[in-house]
Amino acid sequence: MAMTAPGKGHNSNSDSAASSSLSEAAYRREVKVVPGGSMRAASWFKPHPPYAARGEGCWVVDLDGRRILDCANNFFSLIHGHAFPPVLDAVREAMAKGTAFGMPTESEIQLAEALAARNPRMEQTRFCNSGTEAVLAALKGARALTGRERIAKFEGCYHGAYDWIEVSLDPTPANWNDENGNPASVRHNVGTPDSVLRETVVLPYDDPQRCAEILRREGPTLAAVILDLHASRAGTVAMSKEVSAVVQEACRRDGIMLISDEVICFRLSYEGASPLFGLEPDLITTAKIIGGGLPIGAVSGPAAHMAVFNHADGKPRVSMGGTFSGNPLSMAAGLASLEHYSRPVVERLNGLGDDFRKRVREGLAAKGVEATLSGLGSLFRLHLGPGEVTGYRTALPSPENAARIRRIQLAMLAKGVLLTPNCSGALSTPMTEAEITLLADKLVEVVAKETSDQASVAA
Ligand SMILES: Cc1ncc(COP(=O)(O)O)c(C=O)c1O
Repeated sequence: MAMTAPGKGHNSNSDSAASSSLSEAAYRREVKVVPGGSMRAASWFKPHPPYAARGEGCWVVDLDGRRILDCANNFFSLIHGHAFPPVLDAVREAMAKGTAFGMPTESEIQLAEALAARNPRMEQTRFCNSGTEAVLAALKGARALTGRERIAKFEGCYHGAYDWIEVSLDPTPANWNDENGNPASVRHNVGTPDSVLRETVVLPYDDPQRCAEILRREGPTLAAVILDLHASRAGTVAMSKEVSAVVQEACRRDGIMLISDEVICFRLSYEGASPLFGLEPDLITTAKIIGGGLPIGAVSGPAAHMAVFNHADGKPRVSMGGTFSGNPLSMAAGLASLEHYSRPVVERLNGLGDDFRKRVREGLAAKGVEATLSGLGSLFRLHLGPGEVTGYRTALPSPENAARIRRIQLAMLAKGVLLTPNCSGALSTPMTEAEITLLADKLVEVVAKETSDQASVAA
């Protein structure tokens, strides 16, 4: 479905990424009252980011009236882009009845039913308000179900802002191996206790043999292995079937809870990511697109596992609840969003993603640029250099290439396209062949120009 691009007729895109005076003024105010001048590092850059004024479909208009093609989609949460009419209608209808109640509403049943209908392993669900909360609850559930404390996660993978899950989020060659050549448990935040590092085992994303060895040794001590089958920080590449099979087998052998974190990758198929990869997780965490653009998180799983949160027979083994858990606005937005993410829509969007990646790869090759675009379905990420990207270590750019990636992100913004800071992005359903062509052409042009500028500096 093509959307009218807002702001058409007064497009003031310029070649300066951040020359917007109203955005600059907003930033000067914000920096006085917010550390770093932004709520999150991922949407900030020097000298200041453009501030969003409004959005429609796949376009955002900033405070200065610049039209921007949005491939960040609030960090991949807006599968239907901005101000999607069915979501707005559903939220308006829900809001008119009241925004939150200390009583359940039918909308929480409907959204839980919608998830169960897509994937039978999501038989029961508990909602919360973010992916972080969902992962946190799933890990607590796994500890209670197994009576064990330690967890395992994959190197570089992001699962939210929670001590254990932030271990080895951004290790470097200087600290990423332990004395045996296995991935070390590396502190992300200053102040994270040593005990957290000891309780978190780190697995390599693209080395099935080492993964099997580590799990054979550590398995009996683990409550959970959490994985993201298409992790953005591990390169936006799919986890190999060998690695996921190793994990599945170890979890069955040692009674470990397998948690599939589908906060981003749920979008990859109608059923979510695990059925696509033939994985049978014990718990599934989701967020982002299942909330239709409003705050949400969810833990789902078979009733036998989800019983760990059951309070109906006395104190639950794990308490899970929150003031706005299952709030009717998020429920209504999520339901409308999922209803419009039908099988044919998923297929069309994934097909656009395939076309887009092909176009960019061919365009870069035709210009002789050593770079590629990884991704699956509607997700993509740019990588510089000749090497194959298979996981966190091969995706980690050299400091020089990291600076080039940032320049490319800003140059794309100057041309009216918003990518995330590591030049990853997501397509949304309002996009058509026209936007894909525009996006591919601009990306190839910008990467080729940056590469030739770099070459002339080096010469
Ligand atoms: C795979 C994954 N898990 C968990 C999270 C945390 O979700 P939230 O930002 O909603 O807390 C994210 C966020 O990007 C994510 O990508």
